[in-house]
Amino acid sequence: MKLITFEGIEGVGKSTQINLVLDWLKSKGFSTKLLREPGSTDFGEKIRELLLSKESNITSHTELLLMFAARSEMIVEHLIDSNVDFILCDRYYHASIAYQGFGRKLSLELIDHLVQAIDCPTPDLTIIYDLDVKVGFERKSNDVIDRIESSGIDFFEDVRKGYKKLANDRKEVELLDASQSIESVTEKTKVLVERLF
Ligand code: TMP
Repeated sequence: MKLITFEGIEGVGKSTQINLVLDWLKSKGFSTKLLREPGSTDFGEKIRELLLSKESNITSHTELLLMFAARSEMIVEHLIDSNVDFILCDRYYHASIAYQGFGRKLSLELIDHLVQAIDCPTPDLTIIYDLDVKVGFERKSNDVIDRIESSGIDFFEDVRKGYKKLANDRKEVELLDASQSIESVTEKTKVLVERLF
């Protein structure tokens, strides 16, 4: 099993790319599974609702711990002992580092401890789509904004910096420029995924 995770701030076109890659892998005869975080289990989806609801008035630590609670359920239910060829996950622990670490300014050491404590498998590949924060928000201007998306431009500038640092520091993490056409971004995504064949 190969685990590929997809990351980026709002409006980068992550979901479009994941679905295109998924169809492409299936057309090549690979077995696949699509997951999303927070979510992908019954309990995780309930946590997702709480996390994204504007009625949830919670501390940054609660936010972080709920992300990891949902993640722990997903790992046990879907990642351990999976025998599909490719699992694609829409966000994973790199999002906690970028959003809760760099965005909310929580301890990066604490986040690393949580990654180890719940035995998060390391992805074979993490693709971060990078885009100017304002351009990302313009692309999503017709959508209803959830609690985390309401965190402001400065927060997302910090999240973007966090993602760039992760791409710089970790060998399995790749940064792709998401400002180009969907087709061009998909071609670059496929080149990265093909390395795992
Ligand atoms: P999305 O995947 O539909 O964009 O929604 C998930 C939101 O949760 C998104 O704003 C990013 C945020 N998030 C975190 O803040 N930390 C995490 O660890 C994860 C997985 C997501």
